Amino acid sequence: MNKSELALPVGTTLDRFIKKKQDDFTYATGELSQILRDIALASKITNREINRAGLLDIGGALGEMNVQGEEQQKLDVIANIRFIRALTNGGEVCGIVSEEDEDMIEINRQGKYVVAMDPLDGSSNIDVNVSIGTIFSVYRRVSEIGGPVEIEDVLQKGSEQVAAGYVLYGSSTMLVYTTGNGVTGFTYEPSLGEFFLSHPNMKSPEDGKIYSINEGSSSEFDQSVNDYIAECKSKKLSARYIGSLVGDFHRNLLKGGIYIYPRTDKSPDGKLRLLYECNALAFVCEQAGGLATDGEGRILDIKPTAFHQRSPLFIGAKKMVEKACSYNKATATI
Ligand code: AHG
Ligand code: MN
Ligand code: MN
Repeated sequence: MNKSELALPVGTTLDRFIKKKQDDFTYATGELSQILRDIALASKITNREINRAGLLDIGGALGEMNVQGEEQQKLDVIANIRFIRALTNGGEVCGIVSEEDEDMIEINRQGKYVVAMDPLDGSSNIDVNVSIGTIFSVYRRVSEIGGPVEIEDVLQKGSEQVAAGYVLYGSSTMLVYTTGNGVTGFTYEPSLGEFFLSHPNMKSPEDGKIYSINEGSSSEFDQSVNDYIAECKSKKLSARYIGSLVGDFHRNLLKGGIYIYPRTDKSPDGKLRLLYECNALAFVCEQAGGLATDGEGRILDIKPTAFHQRSPLFIGAKKMVEKACSYNKATATI
């Protein structure tokens, strides 16, 4: 063994990678890099709180409902605060919209960007020690810098995102993001407190063998969705559903699969939120070569009309999503 083999390289840190890639950004400034660093910092802190949730009194419900009428978990609130604080301190963001807050949060009028986020996704899985996540989208503001943040800054089509990604707090913690030039994944090394490049140039398989849908609600699905599920069964595909969108999406991205949250009787527009969940994952998915639709058209082409707007979501391997949507023939546009 030679001397350098005694100390193997640990790889590229997220920080170094962001610096190296800065020139790839649509708007080549250090500001977007800073936002990604702020998000990474907040995710490290959130990761720490999640890992300690079983020991401290921060597991379980807070006893309050969020704006969606869903029960807030304590960690939903903690994660929300952590991300808002990090982005506020970073100074590059003028406004934030979050699944956990009814209204837009205005933070720094000089900031050129807005962030939409689901600070903790899959939060009903916290108490049972199952993977959860954070989802984020970054847009360039359209209103004048220095003035108040406008609703239009936030209600932009997903195709206007300049960066998006997610953090998966799983058997290891990962940060996956895109700035529109492919998708890169980093794995957290807790003893060093750093994310390291682990998944360069992530690609969605064109086709797959996994379908992910909460089939318990199938009596509420459109016939076209049930027809597609029947096809998956006839092909003996594997059904996998964690109930944490980030976890289900990430597994399918690596292994090849489709995730569907369709409209149901209970949620006629679907359950997932366009701004906080669908757009970011759709951007990542497309950048990896996959496809994301609402069952009819491209997610990224939807012009939002409200912060907390919901949308059906069909996302994952291109061929699978195309097939699922083809059952929707009457209205399909893709
Ligand atoms: P959140 O915890 O942010 O409210 O999101 C939960 C979402 C998503 O993560 C998951 O895929 C879906 O809700 C599960 O819903 P069902 O229990 O209806 O399947
Ligand atoms: Mn969510
Ligand atoms: Mn959430």
